[in-house]
Amino acid sequence: MSSILVTGGAGFIGSHLVDALLERNEKVIVIDNLSMGDENNLPHDNNITFIKGDLSDSKLVNKLFSEYDINTIFHLGAVASVVASIENPSETHRTNMDGTLILLEAAKKYGVGRFIFASSAAIFGDEPTLPKSEESIIKPLTPYAIDKYGSEQYVIAYNRLYHLPTTVLRFFNVFGNRQNPSSPYSGVVSILTDKFKKIQNNEEDSFTLYGEGDQTRDFIHVKDVVKALILVMEREEAVGEIFNLGTGISTSLKQLIEIYERVTGLSLPIIEKEERSGDIKFSYTSIEKIKAIGYTPDYSLEEGLKVYWNNE
Ligand code: UD1
Repeated sequence: MSSILVTGGAGFIGSHLVDALLERNEKVIVIDNLSMGDENNLPHDNNITFIKGDLSDSKLVNKLFSEYDINTIFHLGAVASVVASIENPSETHRTNMDGTLILLEAAKKYGVGRFIFASSAAIFGDEPTLPKSEESIIKPLTPYAIDKYGSEQYVIAYNRLYHLPTTVLRFFNVFGNRQNPSSPYSGVVSILTDKFKKIQNNEEDSFTLYGEGDQTRDFIHVKDVVKALILVMEREEAVGEIFNLGTGISTSLKQLIEIYERVTGLSLPIIEKEERSGDIKFSYTSIEKIKAIGYTPDYSLEEGLKVYWNNE
């Protein structure tokens, strides 16, 4: 039986995808170096093969392809930290871009039915036109964004040059359980969740709001991201295409906090600080292109937060 390879499968989004694939009775191979992921994110299941290693290790990747009949690749593995990419651009480049090329070469050599790459809204940088679309101006501002954009271009070029059936999804602000809240650069929803949990336990805590809370984002629940990943795997029309993936709805940080207070029934003390330097002010995407191949998000922000809060 053929297998599905998930790079970064022990991470936040990857592990949710693995859950969904197992539910569909797929055989799943996870490669993850556990630099950001955690093996505890994966269930004990005979249909998972877990390989601890770097996706930039071309020997290891080629060994995987020679040992297993890999039919589909979800390439989610990356050093998913903009800050790390600024501090160590060469090191993160090895994973974030060379790793993509290594996987593409292996996919070309061994042949695969699908290759799906997780890109990021970061490629748009601070170019202000909204909503974003697949035709929007690209302005990657950090090594992380440059590597995501370069990888996208390779992924699409391998379709053009070698007819490898590739697709790119550009994730906007994904939230849900298993996202690490521990750094100030963690996703804002995971930080808020952590703060609300402390307040629920009668610990004193507050949320540092950078700016006045009028900045906007397109928050998408991780299960809707998984839904889109599986959809593009199944749809022939997705081959050779790039899709932006969000909800199509723009929410300010103030609104996010209000909704989350309603969901938790708790009130969160806020400390306002200066805007974070380098932050993007407004961001959201049109989802018309992915809707046209059958995608609709299942979770409103409020529903997604409920699910997250209740750890479902
Ligand atoms: C995301 C990335 C970021 C990257 C940017 C580029 C994540 C977690 N962050 O940032 O690394 O540079 O895309 O597209 O993937 N905020 C607070 N208080 C906090 C934390 C955040 O007020 O404690 C604010 C931020 O200043 C920002 C908003 O919340 O205005 C959202 O922050 P974040 O979740 O980090 O997402 P992005 O800014 O989109």
